[in-house]
Amino acid sequence: MTGTGSGIDWQRLESTARAAMTRAYVPYSGFPVGAAALVEDGRVVAGCNIENASLGLTLCAECSLVSNLQMTGGGRLLAFYCVDGNGQVLMPCGRCRQLLFEFHAPGMRLMGPEGELTMEQVLPQAFGPADMTEMTDRTERGR
Ligand code: THU
Repeated sequence: MTGTGSGIDWQRLESTARAAMTRAYVPYSGFPVGAAALVEDGRVVAGCNIENASLGLTLCAECSLVSNLQMTGGGRLLAFYCVDGNGQVLMPCGRCRQLLFEFHAPGMRLMGPEGELTMEQVLPQAFGPADMTEMTDRTERGR
């Protein structure tokens, strides 16, 4: 699957996501996931899902990816690609859409099953960092 228009090297992200997927720890679901993203400074970060006997504590691949992002210098994401165990494009779960929203660069593209998507398409009318800033500003104005 190749995207259109944005000039992003999707093949590189796809192969990095597939490699990350092979690192998944999935003894409970048997459903490995790998994710890769391009950072504004040119780095590529990746993650895999890491399950837990207490199932609700499972870490999604996107969670692992944002940990990798922060631990390797931070920054914002320009492009994101996620795959399932067959190497097919996988859309992030709801919680992970919020994780990605926190760290997305303006104009970030996500690969979907039918091509590139914007963050706004994937998480419309999102709650995010700007809402927190506005709340803090309002509180300070009220003092
Ligand atoms: N999973 C992810 O890693 N990312 C997603 O966006 C969807 C779900 C993982 C969590 C769990 O280990 C497995 O897929 C089945 O839900």
